[in-house]
Amino acid sequence: MKIFKEIAILKTFLDEIKGAGNSIGLVPTMGALHKGHISLIEASRAQNAFTLTTIYVNPAQFNNPLDLQKYPRTLERDLKILEESGCDAVFCPSDQEMYEEQPLLKFDFGHLDKVMEGKFRPGHFSGVALVVGKLFNIVGPTIAYFGQKDWQQVTVIRRMVDELKFNLLVLSVPIVRDTDGLAMSSRNLRLTQEERVQAAVLYRALSMAKESLKSGQGLEFVRMEVKALVEGQPAMKLEYFELADSQNLTPLSNVKDGGRPIMCIAAFAGDVRLIDNMFLD
Ligand code: PAJ
Repeated sequence: MKIFKEIAILKTFLDEIKGAGNSIGLVPTMGALHKGHISLIEASRAQNAFTLTTIYVNPAQFNNPLDLQKYPRTLERDLKILEESGCDAVFCPSDQEMYEEQPLLKFDFGHLDKVMEGKFRPGHFSGVALVVGKLFNIVGPTIAYFGQKDWQQVTVIRRMVDELKFNLLVLSVPIVRDTDGLAMSSRNLRLTQEERVQAAVLYRALSMAKESLKSGQGLEFVRMEVKALVEGQPAMKLEYFELADSQNLTPLSNVKDGGRPIMCIAAFAGDVRLIDNMFLD
């Protein structure tokens, strides 16, 4: 597996790969790799001649400096996992390489970045779009892979690709869960043993809410049920539970409102913020 740290060297290398007519699958990550990330790499390997994973903890998307500071960094272990997964190359640049200067550019995605994550993490999606846009320009992938786990991120990136006419396909890969249902996340590494056990309530809450909403219960009632279930675990605090049209993130008040509905949830387990989601169908 090839390891790149510099943009110029990576570009020259990829030009050769592309010149030979090979498709390139891009898997952007922030490292602390787990089975969720691996599933993106597997999807890319199945569909492309060459798979490039990027590992970069992007400061621009952290609205909370403490969260950035505490974000797990496990590069040695990640490189081993990537090698074993059959990934062809990894790009792990320094901050200086990615942001030569303090960025001035900001993105505004209208209501797409004002709801749910956008409401609680102002500036987050602007930072995501900035780094993902850079990666698209540096790599020029055929297909870029993102996890359904961060559904709002997928929606925002698709919008950026459409509006800026990036010549690539964005694919979303289903959520990989642990045996108790907790969605795999790099942040799970920060949970204490007790918090880790309690955090599985998020999956139970989404599963319960799905049945409740499908049986015709209104959103307000279901939100109360979700809050009671989640906060029945002493370490857990619900931040939001929303029902939205998965294509445009318009809030829905019931499942019949139109579109393909998705439920999105965010909660704290101790001081670790976790998100999850589930389609209604
Ligand atoms: P990160 O949190 O490292 O996630 C990298 C990719 O893995 C994202 O597309 C995310 O949705 C996906 N992923 C995470 N957990 C998953 C799971 N349990 N199942 C399936 N896929 C999962 O998301 C980011 O990094 C950053 O915002 C990034 C896009 C790299 C930009 O900095």
